[in-house]
Amino acid sequence: MRFPSIAACALALARSIPVALAASCPDGLCLKTRAALSSFQVASELGPLLSKGALIFGPEDPRWANATERYQTYLPPNIRIVVEPAVEADVPIIVKYANRHSLPFLAVNRAHGYTITLNKFDGLQINMAQLRNITISNDRESALMQGGVYGAQVIQALWDQGYVTSTGSCGCVGILGPGLGGGHGRYQGMYGLVSDAFIKLNVVLADGSAVTVSDKSHQDLFWAMRGAGHNFGIVTSFETKIWPKNLDTWYYRNLIFTQDKLEALFTELNKLGGNGTQPKELGHYGMYLKAAGIADPVIWWSFSYTGSQEDAEPYLQPFNDLGYISYDDGNVPYPDIAPAMQTGIDDPLCEPGLERISATAGLQVFNLTTQRQIYELYEKNINQYPELVNSWVVMEQYSVEGVRAVDPASQAYPMRDDYLLMAIDVDYTTNHSLDAIAFEWVHETRDLWNAGQPERKPTAYVNYAMGDEPIEQWYGWEPWRLAKLRALKRQYDPHGRFNYYNPITY
Ligand SMILES: Cc1cc2nc3c(=O)[nH]c(=O)nc-3n(C[C@H](O)[C@H](O)[C@H](O)COP(=O)(O)OP(=O)(O)OC[C@H]3O[C@@H](n4cnc5c(N)ncnc54)[C@H](O)[C@@H]3O)c2cc1C
Ligand SMILES: *[C@@H]1O[C@H](CO)[C@@H](O)[C@H](O)[C@H]1NC(C)=O
Ligand SMILES: *[C@@H]1O[C@H](CO)[C@@H](O)[C@H](O)[C@H]1NC(C)=O
Ligand SMILES: *[C@@H]1O[C@H](CO)[C@@H](O)[C@H](O)[C@H]1NC(C)=O
Ligand SMILES: *[C@@H]1O[C@H](CO)[C@@H](O)[C@H](O)[C@H]1NC(C)=O
Ligand SMILES: *[C@@H]1O[C@H](CO)[C@@H](O)[C@H](O)[C@H]1NC(C)=O
Repeated sequence: MRFPSIAACALALARSIPVALAASCPDGLCLKTRAALSSFQVASELGPLLSKGALIFGPEDPRWANATERYQTYLPPNIRIVVEPAVEADVPIIVKYANRHSLPFLAVNRAHGYTITLNKFDGLQINMAQLRNITISNDRESALMQGGVYGAQVIQALWDQGYVTSTGSCGCVGILGPGLGGGHGRYQGMYGLVSDAFIKLNVVLADGSAVTVSDKSHQDLFWAMRGAGHNFGIVTSFETKIWPKNLDTWYYRNLIFTQDKLEALFTELNKLGGNGTQPKELGHYGMYLKAAGIADPVIWWSFSYTGSQEDAEPYLQPFNDLGYISYDDGNVPYPDIAPAMQTGIDDPLCEPGLERISATAGLQVFNLTTQRQIYELYEKNINQYPELVNSWVVMEQYSVEGVRAVDPASQAYPMRDDYLLMAIDVDYTTNHSLDAIAFEWVHETRDLWNAGQPERKPTAYVNYAMGDEPIEQWYGWEPWRLAKLRALKRQYDPHGRFNYYNPITY
């Protein structure tokens, strides 16, 4: 929706009395403070400044529901207007326009961010959906990707050309949502976190200026944006390392166990994990979940191996020996691994539109007592509240070989000594009388995980955080890290324009 340029630009000389002064506004981005901007006004003023194909619309538009749908419906951001840049150069203009109108803005890509700090947002959504280009460089060692790329897309596009890179494990989530906070997934044993592969970020800063962030330019920001990146800018594109795929298929195996195997299972998982020494080819995770037709909640576990079944077998045999009630496996190309392991773009785990109350903890080894306590709590709650039956306890155990190979001081990401990622998601269709119950459950679960590792401080991976944790749990307990981040935040985002995703506060 585009409107012809209108001449009525205004400069706010007094707080709320705009004075028309067209000549002082040559770039069309005029300073105004207005209580409520309609989407029509924004379209008529900003629209002509953006490239062909850019979109601006409000709640009355048929595209609104799709553009503002979110994974998490509990305390979501309040979106008033959607602006969709068609080219990267639109983004600085949108940010400058928003700033001059005192209009908060938020980059939204796949809308799977679920921290409740997003609920403080009230303003203009910058929709990254048209910025999805991927170009492999001439030397075939990196790719330039735009800010709206996402997991399933990147995996498929690179694979088709013979390459792979680190992404999250779920097809539905963006690359930058995870990557700006680190980014965990199946290739981290080999290539490290998503952020470990970043070479260069093209960033629009809080004031609307466009800069290159790398180890040669804005080096301090490059440090900060690999772990705390949501706080500092909008990445319109980025250059990241890629690797030749080196194999045609991965092996996967999904097993389901009854609860009586719980202690034996976590004993074997601890042996396999080796306290942070799991072989780089192995990635796996599991869940406590309620399966139809089986009375007690079951333990589902899904293994993947970057290689052949034959090479995987010695690692997986002990799990077969425990005795399972369900088995399925296969050798599939890498793009098919996520759906095979229930994290494909169409799987329930990715599905938008539910309340998802969650909590997280980072661990090194499983504590068997804790794992049993959390199982019992899960069982008690789904029996007592049938509406919560689709809730999950999700436990991820990827190799950390590639993660530990990177100097922890070299990036803001603070958790290279967390080897296991724990999360509980209490999921239900909106029913506010369940909210307090859900929070009590997830807090109790988190407390159990943390009590099970009394010698370690609690951590909350920033992309799994609910938003109610202390800042040290997101960005690290070492005082130098927070001090450095706070100084950079003051320098690059003094007005807190990027304060909606687990913000650095001081
Ligand atoms: C089903 C599911 C699976 C997940 N799996 C993984 C996983 O395997 N590994 C992992 O590490 N994490 C995982 N996560 C967590 C994930 O990293 C976060 O939820 C992340 O915020 C999702 O990014 P998004 O683009 O989908 O969401 P969005 O809500 O669109 O983005 C989240 C935030 O990122 C920022 N942002 C987005 N795009 C840009 C940009 N171009 N420039 C600057 N800032 C930007 C904004 O602050 C935004 O609020 C998963 C989450 C879900 C819901
Ligand atoms: C929703 O929007 C996305 C882009 O953001 C688009 O790819 C998709 O086709 C849309 N879906 C529907 C049902 O309109
Ligand atoms: C998009 O990608 C294609 C192919 O990779 C490339 O030729 C083209 O220049 C890219 N366009 C932009 C705007 O980056
Ligand atoms: C795991 O390894 C860490 C060092 O990486 C060590 O501090 C810790 O004590 C080990 N834990 C166990 C249970 O062996
Ligand atoms: C909401 O949850 C409460 C508490 O479990 C339950 O009694 C009620 O029936 C639920 N309401 C709906 C509409 O499902
Ligand atoms: C395991 O968890 C229990 C219960 O919280 C705790 O008492 C115990 O110390 C933990 N064990 C280890 C080895 O940390």
